[in-house]
Amino acid sequence: MAYYQHPLDVTALPTWQALQEHRASLQSFSMREAFNMDAQRFEHLSLSSCGLFLDYSKNLITLETRDLLVSLAKECGLEQAIRAQFDGEPINASEARPALHTALRRPIGDKVLVDGVDVMPEVQRVLHQMTELVGRVHDGLWRGYSEKPITDVVNIGIGGSFLGPQLVSEALLPFAQRGVRCHYLANIDGSSFHELAAKLRAETTLFIVSSKSFSTLETLKNAQAARSWYLAQGGSEAELYRHFIAVSSNTRAAVAFGIHEENIFPMWDWVGGRYSLWSAIGLPIAMSIGMSNFKELLSGAYSMDEHFQSAPFEQNMPVLLALLGIWYGNFWGAQSQAILPYDHYLRNITKHLQQLDMESNGKSVLQDGRPVQCATGPVIWGGVGCNGQHAYHQLLHQGTQLIPADFIVPVVSYNPVADHHQWLYANCLSQSQALMLGKTREEAEAELHAQGLDEAEVQRLAPHKVIPGNRPSNTLVLERISPRRLGALVAMYEHKVFAQSAIWGINAFDQWGVELGKELGKSVYSRMVGDETSAAEDGSTQGLVEFFRGRHRG
Ligand code: F6P
Repeated sequence: MAYYQHPLDVTALPTWQALQEHRASLQSFSMREAFNMDAQRFEHLSLSSCGLFLDYSKNLITLETRDLLVSLAKECGLEQAIRAQFDGEPINASEARPALHTALRRPIGDKVLVDGVDVMPEVQRVLHQMTELVGRVHDGLWRGYSEKPITDVVNIGIGGSFLGPQLVSEALLPFAQRGVRCHYLANIDGSSFHELAAKLRAETTLFIVSSKSFSTLETLKNAQAARSWYLAQGGSEAELYRHFIAVSSNTRAAVAFGIHEENIFPMWDWVGGRYSLWSAIGLPIAMSIGMSNFKELLSGAYSMDEHFQSAPFEQNMPVLLALLGIWYGNFWGAQSQAILPYDHYLRNITKHLQQLDMESNGKSVLQDGRPVQCATGPVIWGGVGCNGQHAYHQLLHQGTQLIPADFIVPVVSYNPVADHHQWLYANCLSQSQALMLGKTREEAEAELHAQGLDEAEVQRLAPHKVIPGNRPSNTLVLERISPRRLGALVAMYEHKVFAQSAIWGINAFDQWGVELGKELGKSVYSRMVGDETSAAEDGSTQGLVEFFRGRHRG
């Protein structure tokens, strides 16, 4: 099957060379000065779309930088890559699959062909199946074994079958329907199961076993633990179908687990795990906020899909964010990117974007298998503001690394408490301002003199007070968090990650790297429990296995 043409080695392109030269010419570029020189810099380097406002004026760029980056994207065939993605071409080449999460948010009536078959009727059918289930649970018609309505829904899943749904259902808590609480069980750590089970009653709990493959160790172990707990609490095998449903593309394995076929919500191999919250993997979201809000989420994502496909790159939010990431990663040596939501409800977005970005773009070979010639995906980290200001922001301000940051903040809070939201917003803005302005030696000395310190003391302290500044950030402002705007925000980052992969020429939709650990986990386990007596491949692992065995002997 045809796939769009990529030049393969992006670093060999003339625009790449031009960007290197341009980067050298910006060695002493100062954002402070750029703002002083151009009163319109904010207007030139900001835009709004899909309910989001992006200010990217606090970056180490000029309009020429933006134009060169846009040329790079065009030379790499990003326009064709975007079309290929939406048209369902097998852009996940190593698995010979399309990546069509965008089909999940398309309106009724649209057609999307996979291997010549329109997948949209099936997408709509599953949305109906979800609507039916969610309605029955919310209306108290879905009953547990003792005929009591469901009060608690537990999503058992990990990775993409956990992080996206958790982010969205918790971010949209102000939209939660009364009566049903959502919980997440992801880790295989028994303590996590233990703590959760203590809060639940089996007769009123519905477990969603959420696993595209239905073969993920952590999920299967937790599902088995939940099942044993349910039976121990008084549930019976015969009534199990009232308490366990599944979302999976592996229907056979879900049936073998004991889940009724009509309670299995399908998934498709053209939806990657970390892109799956828009599918039935989003059931816990729908259980929490209801189907009409879930559909609003989808339509917000759809509006971003439209924007991504149609906006010129100079005004295209995901493309601009992708290009800025490439600018810092490939031309300034940045190795990480901070995601800093200034909103309690968005506190899990960093974790979701960590999987989205790092599992997608943590790659070292091109689509055709040859090694990449430049850095690819960055380390994504961060967390909720203001908490981070009292923890790791010190390194952002005065550390030796250049770490671009995305600040995300809503203008309106759902929970106004005195002037807390004004302060939260002010802190968000002042952090990006401090990163940009820094504090010069002169300013530091003037400040110390003003405190009445003698010259020797001023000179001793001044170096510690200097803050380099000129550190880049984007600020994304939402008027208020809503299903629509959140859908657009998450879809924006999905497209950013894809745009970067298309420019680098890598595959954003496979994740072979995580497989080795899974395989080795099995042989380490066999040695720990004594099923395998030969020594491990290396002395360190063998030593650590023996340490465990020594503690668990007898
Ligand atoms: O191991 C990585 C991974 O395959 C992720 O890509 C995926 O989101 C997660 O595990 C869970 O997979 P599944 O939904 O098949 O249980």
